[in-house]
Amino acid sequence: MIDADLNPQVIAQVRDATDLVEVASDHVKLKKRGRKYEGLCPFHEEKTPSFSIDPEKGLFYCFGCHAGGDAIKFVMELERLSFPEAVERLARQFGVHLPPASPDARRRRQTSDRLRTVLEEAQHWFTEQLVAPAGAGARSELERRGYGKETWRDFGFGYAPDDWRQLLDHLERRHPQGVIIEAGLAVQPDSGKSPYDRFRGRLTFPVRDSEGRLIAFGGRVLGEGEPKYLNSPESALFHKRSTLFCLDRARRAIADDAEAVVVEGYFDCFSLHLVGITNVVATLGTALTSDHSRLLRRRLGADGRVVLCYDADSAGRRAAATGARVLLEAGVAVAVVGLPPGTDPDDIIRTRGGDAMREMLGNPSSLVEFLVQDLPDERTARQRGAADLAVLVGSARDPHIRDELFMELTQRMGFSEDVLRDLARRMGGQRGADRSPRAGTSLGSGELFLARIILDGGPRWRRLVADQVDPAHRGDERLGRLIEKLKIFSADEANEDRDFIRWLQEATVDDELMVLVAEVSAGSGPELSEESIRLQLQRVMLEQWKAQAHEITAAVRHAADREDLEAVADLQRKLVELKSRKPDF
Ligand code: UTP
Ligand code: MN
Repeated sequence: MIDADLNPQVIAQVRDATDLVEVASDHVKLKKRGRKYEGLCPFHEEKTPSFSIDPEKGLFYCFGCHAGGDAIKFVMELERLSFPEAVERLARQFGVHLPPASPDARRRRQTSDRLRTVLEEAQHWFTEQLVAPAGAGARSELERRGYGKETWRDFGFGYAPDDWRQLLDHLERRHPQGVIIEAGLAVQPDSGKSPYDRFRGRLTFPVRDSEGRLIAFGGRVLGEGEPKYLNSPESALFHKRSTLFCLDRARRAIADDAEAVVVEGYFDCFSLHLVGITNVVATLGTALTSDHSRLLRRRLGADGRVVLCYDADSAGRRAAATGARVLLEAGVAVAVVGLPPGTDPDDIIRTRGGDAMREMLGNPSSLVEFLVQDLPDERTARQRGAADLAVLVGSARDPHIRDELFMELTQRMGFSEDVLRDLARRMGGQRGADRSPRAGTSLGSGELFLARIILDGGPRWRRLVADQVDPAHRGDERLGRLIEKLKIFSADEANEDRDFIRWLQEATVDDELMVLVAEVSAGSGPELSEESIRLQLQRVMLEQWKAQAHEITAAVRHAADREDLEAVADLQRKLVELKSRKPDF
């Protein structure tokens, strides 16, 4: 347990004292190349080195799996530590003294620690109940599913007795009631009556975060009963929207295969892992969220994809369609496995075995192929349905994915030129104009250069970018966010002599942004000469100026159509003003 005041100054001290090369050397054989170090990436399996460290900035980046960040992140990911744990571990290694915690911080930390302790004790108790005489029902449920004893420990199966206060009584000996309720293990009725156990008469299993720490429980009723599955409620530790079941077990396989399988059910997940298909996660009785998509995208890398393998019923098909949309919006490619009607992955494994399942997962349908199957036959209804699909396709953030899906849609539907144009127009309404590359891939060369100017170009150019470059309309939205941060940084005179990257590390919890910074720092490229910087900035400003002029011209036309003469005059003034300051420096 850590009891230190991890204020920004201390964290900065730890960052400064830390030698990332030394830290990483425990896990990777590093070779010096120029100003950087290279090695085989410890975050995914590879044969040729794509992992790079910039020792001056203290940042790492892998061009293969797109893991990136500073020493704290490195230790968090590789040694499965929380942020404060990682800071403490580095402080110890590099001899930084940590001041004791502020009362407030200590209280927050203590809350999480207490919840964790209570959950761990409950987990221990549940597993004891499973092997006790009362656990017979739960044991035969596991048997029915074909889960041998050796799996019990592995998945942490347990049993919550069909009673009201057994767990509560057990835990109350050492923990206040409030903590037990906060951890979601007991329910406090509104009426002021006494609390009782949440999980009763259920087979239980732990829900862990991506680092394998216990954060909640799931419980399946034995036999028939409602609800079939019960989860812990949201707590300081458990947020359903951003938790993927089994991600702790699946993260390495997901990165290695650049593929993640998402299923609906807990037992789909267990059964797949059991037969050795390990890149599998499940949502926790919720639809797939944008948080889930981001979690997956980070591990999948640029060329990865998600394979949705939901139950083959109408609810499952609907869930696949909405899940696909959320993934596409996050820039993730999607394929779908359509199982035989009425089955789920767990059924397939039980009746046909793991190899049959592996085969199905190995041959998923394209998203369009899957969705087109649900279109009605009648001609106009079919066209309307296809138009909806076009809108769905249009929501894909990655232009390559979007174009490919659109091509496939028109081919499969056998559309004429006219229909195609109409569809394209509908698509345009969504995101047609946005050509952003998939996050996690490299930036375009111009954008990469701009990012390098910001990070390595020195204060003079940085100030110029902060003053003049518009964060909007950047192809990669992370670059826009970087420029926004730069503006904030530059606006504060106190930052005059500060290092921008250090400031960023302290000022932001935007992990994607830090990966971008690591990526740009890891990249090699031509020297940043005065001449090349000037040329690039001129190019950026000219493009920006053109885009603004274009926007105003379009608005003028629009206002003229509405016969809004006042607006026309106003906009024309703006246009003249814009033209008078065509970029030139
Ligand atoms: P299913 O009803 O398909 O469950 O719900 P299943 O996994 O096939 O169940 P078994 O094999 O009959 O035991 C799929 C998932 O939806 C969530 C759970 O995550 C479940 O695994 N769910 C379902 C709930 O959260 N609560 C429920 O009451 C039912
Ligand atoms: Mn199911």
